Amino acid sequence: MFAAIPSAVILGARGHPVTVEVHVGSGLPGFHVVGLPDESIRESRDRVRAAVMSSEAKWPNDKITVNLAPSQQRKSGSGLDLAIAIGVLVASEQIPLDAVHDMAFIGELGLDGSTRAVPGVAPMAGVSTAGELVVPVANGHEAWIVCEGQVRPVAHLRELIAVLGEERAPWPDHDLTVADSDDGPHPDLADVVGQPLARRALEIAAAGGHHCLFVGPPGSGKTMLAARLPGLLPDLDREQALEVTMIHSAAGIPLPPGGLVTHPPYRSPHHTSSEASIVGGGSHSLRPGEISIAHCGILFMDELPEYHPRVIDTIRQPLEEGEVRVSRAAHHTTIPSRFQLVAAMNPCPCGEGGRPGGCDCGEARVARYAGRVSGPLLDRFDLRVRVHRPDVDDLLSGERGESTAVVAERVRAARWRAEQRQGAVNADLSPLELDSVAPLAPDALAVLRFEMDKGRLSGRGYHRIRRVARTIADLDDDPPDVIGEEAITLALDMRASIGPLRAGTVAA
Ligand SMILES: Nc1ncnc2c1ncn2[C@@H]1O[C@H](COP(=O)(O)OP(=O)(O)OP(=O)(O)O)[C@@H](O)[C@H]1O
Ligand SMILES: [Mg+2]
Ligand SMILES: [Zn+2]
Repeated sequence: MFAAIPSAVILGARGHPVTVEVHVGSGLPGFHVVGLPDESIRESRDRVRAAVMSSEAKWPNDKITVNLAPSQQRKSGSGLDLAIAIGVLVASEQIPLDAVHDMAFIGELGLDGSTRAVPGVAPMAGVSTAGELVVPVANGHEAWIVCEGQVRPVAHLRELIAVLGEERAPWPDHDLTVADSDDGPHPDLADVVGQPLARRALEIAAAGGHHCLFVGPPGSGKTMLAARLPGLLPDLDREQALEVTMIHSAAGIPLPPGGLVTHPPYRSPHHTSSEASIVGGGSHSLRPGEISIAHCGILFMDELPEYHPRVIDTIRQPLEEGEVRVSRAAHHTTIPSRFQLVAAMNPCPCGEGGRPGGCDCGEARVARYAGRVSGPLLDRFDLRVRVHRPDVDDLLSGERGESTAVVAERVRAARWRAEQRQGAVNADLSPLELDSVAPLAPDALAVLRFEMDKGRLSGRGYHRIRRVARTIADLDDDPPDVIGEEAITLALDMRASIGPLRAGTVAA
């Protein structure tokens, strides 16, 4: 007796359909799973057996063979439990074959027969072509968002047997549980007192999608500033929201009420996090890492020089390409990872950055410290901003800065201008496009020529300055078509040198 039950597995952030074929026949009693299952699936044998017996069904005392098709693709995870259990029940004639017609099953089983949530239900449900998809109650909501067919959430295998078996019970009526999300209100920019340059940089970063590095002593408010960037960004469009939701689902991150991730994510992995947790991969299902969870949002790397050099090195490729290739053994896949990078670092090991009487790090130590962040990565930051300790008088005055709502409105207008003009944020402008959308006024050109003649600006730096200047202009109430000296000078101010502080220097 034979049954073929549709299900799915997850690889990276993508679902792949799998058919669970179950054969129950005469022979030495046993339970074998073939078709490239990994360790996690082999464990499902024990769970499925216990779950079936806890659900007042019979475990066939026969030879049971499970084949996972397509057999050349390696499968992992516990989400096939439900399909295997149903396959065994159909193949042993405890559930009629026609009862499961046009149905697919995804979910893990507990030993007591209860269903358990699995990561990746959204992308898996997205590839299901069945008319009805059975999932654990805890995954019902995310399945419902993407599934074309009818979603059937169940809490226990016993419920399924009641519906599909002789009893022909109606489907249970479960409320789709909505996970709690930590997506609380954003901290407000009004909390940041003073810091005009850093606040301006944050606004420019938000408006142009520029990667941004804050350099300053401890307590100068770098972390505080970075946490206020997501509040300045517009909501995701429908396509982005779906893409980000798939990734969060695959990563096992609780989805917000409503199921769809609609606001740009903000992720700040600690510098001690493993390479796999930041970049992705690391298991047979090749889980998305922080750089993918931050897709369409912000990745904040606090204390940048403290990250493992390999991590710093590996994020360069996804920064460039917007997706990351992860692999383990014979599998590999790509996962979207188009994120905006915000980083913070101290100017020197002690953090005081050459302050007379406060820092005796010495040029060599400072250079070594700054050198931990490779040149090619530093080069990705259009904005590198010195942050100073807040002015004591400012702090004591209790005067609040402009609020997130006010700044976000300017950001929205600037992003709209860029979208209308070139269909992308200014950070993505190529040198060729710059010539047409950000032509330079003669005085602006003269400033740039002066910096280049002095050797303080490289060719690449020249383009980065022009991109930032385009965003500065777009933030104007009445943005000029031609970039003037003022915008260029401000953009130059936001490209501080990293390493030993020499007043007025601008790095390439
Ligand atoms: N401009 C400011 N306005 C109001 N409060 C500030 C400002 N700057 C710093 N603070 C206060 O100082 C605290 C420390 O700031 P924050 O953690 O952002 O500093 P940091 O630059 O990230 O320091 P570290 O290098 O130690 O990580 C904040 O929680 C806030 O209370
Ligand atoms: Mg900090
Ligand atoms: Zn120092």
